[in-house]
Amino acid sequence: MVKAKVWTLQKHFVGFPKETDFKLKEETLPELQNGDVLLEAVFLSLDPYMRSVSSLLIKEGDVMVGAQVAKVLQSRNPAFPVGCYVVAPCGWRTHSVTNGKAVFSLDMARLPPDWPKDVPLSLAVGALGMPGLTALYGLEEILQVKPGEIVLVSAAAGAVGAMVGQICKIKGCKVVGSAGSEEKVAYLKELGFDHVFNYKTITSLDEALKQASPEGYDCYFENVGGAFFTAALNQMRPRGRIAVCGAIALYNSTTPQLCPFPHLSMLIKSIRMEGFQESFDEALKKAGDQLVVVDFTATWCGPCQMIGPFFKELSEKPENKNVVFLKVDVDDVQASHFI
Ligand SMILES: NC(=O)c1ccc[n+]([C@@H]2O[C@H](COP(=O)([O-])OP(=O)(O)OC[C@H]3O[C@@H](n4cnc5c(N)ncnc54)[C@H](OP(=O)(O)O)[C@@H]3O)[C@@H](O)[C@H]2O)c1
Repeated sequence: MVKAKVWTLQKHFVGFPKETDFKLKEETLPELQNGDVLLEAVFLSLDPYMRSVSSLLIKEGDVMVGAQVAKVLQSRNPAFPVGCYVVAPCGWRTHSVTNGKAVFSLDMARLPPDWPKDVPLSLAVGALGMPGLTALYGLEEILQVKPGEIVLVSAAAGAVGAMVGQICKIKGCKVVGSAGSEEKVAYLKELGFDHVFNYKTITSLDEALKQASPEGYDCYFENVGGAFFTAALNQMRPRGRIAVCGAIALYNSTTPQLCPFPHLSMLIKSIRMEGFQESFDEALKKAGDQLVVVDFTATWCGPCQMIGPFFKELSEKPENKNVVFLKVDVDDVQASHFI
């Protein structure tokens, strides 16, 4: 019998998360069934999305959501032999028994067996994983950055921002970043950022942004929201593009955000702004010619809850492997998909 340590969400967060919102528990894991593996966590990624996703997708008492790099200790699944490493959406737990099927729309994925020895495995949930891909997607698909352009990125020393800056330099852009400590400023300069400022010690955001790039910005990779966004928007060049990747300054806010945007700036300069994440539209686009089955559901709808397990079972049948199953919560219009 393997025992796992699991961190559960004891209380949904109100404002800044507190230690008392979590509880460490011990769980006895079930025996492996055909198709299962026993995993041992090696690295757990802590990401800003957990703050909002926990309130949307899990209830109090559930194990906290999250992805981990894990080692397969026992296996009854030939796709995941003993000793291989995986990225698995198992949450905050030391050990898991899982068949690797989608949890919150994410399947377990095996890391390549020839993963280079000198590349840390932790990068599978960093630069070579979700944050790195987010940076690449935002720059290439949303902003469509071109050589010679001037790119601004906030929360630049974070997992996403640091990748944004480095990819921008590879693409021949000038890149300006903001960060919240002198150590982070030095780190970003080391990475090759052209200009970095500490947003906590400057006296005026407008002045700092102007000084960093007197000619303004072609692209803004937005990670924080709030006052920083307003100041950045005012410094955009005509036909500038803004990719709204995140709004970390707002995640712990207990009051709804009012609209602080300088709309006239957007209008006069013809600025384009686009938010992005794995979305319903995205999933539909990706499906191409494949058959798409959509379950429009709601937590308050009894029949929807009854259909839910049947819908999931259908999505897992081998004969439906070419069908895309989408689930849409009509209340928050969040889409999750399991293929
Ligand atoms: N759209 C997507 O699919 C997607 C995917 C991944 C991440 N994201 C978003 O991208 C952003 C960055 O994620 P990440 O993984 O890079 O996060 P991360 O590595 O945890 O870094 C986040 C950084 O944000 C800064 N920060 C925190 N509170 C702030 C505030 N009030 N004002 C300004 N900066 C603040 C902090 O750095 P300082 O010390 O410099 O303040 C912190 O280290 C987040 O908003 C996240 O939600 C979106």
